[in-house]
Amino acid sequence: MTEADIAEVLELDRKIFSTPWSEDNFESAVSLSYYSSMVAVENNEICGFVVCRQLFESADLDIIAVASEQRKKGLGRLLLEKEIELLCENECEKLFLEVRESNEVALKFYEGMGFTQIDVRKDYYDKPVENAFIMVKEL
Ligand SMILES: CC(C)(COP(=O)(O)OP(=O)(O)OC[C@H]1O[C@@H](n2cnc3c(N)ncnc32)[C@H](O)[C@@H]1OP(=O)(O)O)[C@@H](O)C(=O)NCCC(=O)NCCS
Repeated sequence: MTEADIAEVLELDRKIFSTPWSEDNFESAVSLSYYSSMVAVENNEICGFVVCRQLFESADLDIIAVASEQRKKGLGRLLLEKEIELLCENECEKLFLEVRESNEVALKFYEGMGFTQIDVRKDYYDKPVENAFIMVKEL
């Protein structure tokens, strides 16, 4: 992801999430060295994106999304695999994430990518208020 992608990524993010990221959040993701981010592009259109934040040997998967009409074609897996490759090059050892407990598709996706649930964070999310499952993958 680069500065030039932000407007398109913001538009996609707003279509997908009830509490979308701000422009400032994405500005940080492309400019601060501890973030790594990628977009998936088809026919010159951004159809997916991922952002991770690494501190020493562990990282957080802050956001991953694929446009609804492009799902179930392997793009989410590809984005996450490429992101993990980058993290491994940076000697990252663990990747953590939070996910809404009702997000069955994402839970299946993350389980399939080798994440395991380690904790629950009560009422972590807004709109609607909901618990988060904390998951981790050893890299
Ligand atoms: C989660 C998400 C990123 C997956 O992206 P995707 O490109 O559709 O996923 P892939 O096609 O790469 O699928 C990889 C695996 O995930 C699982 N999966 C994906 N969609 C699924 C669905 N609808 N039902 C069940 N499992 C599913 C499967 O195990 C799949 O492997 P398979 O194709 O061998 O069966 C996408 O559904 C999305 O953007 N959801 C909305 C945003 C979101 O919830 N993000 C995560 C929380 S931040």
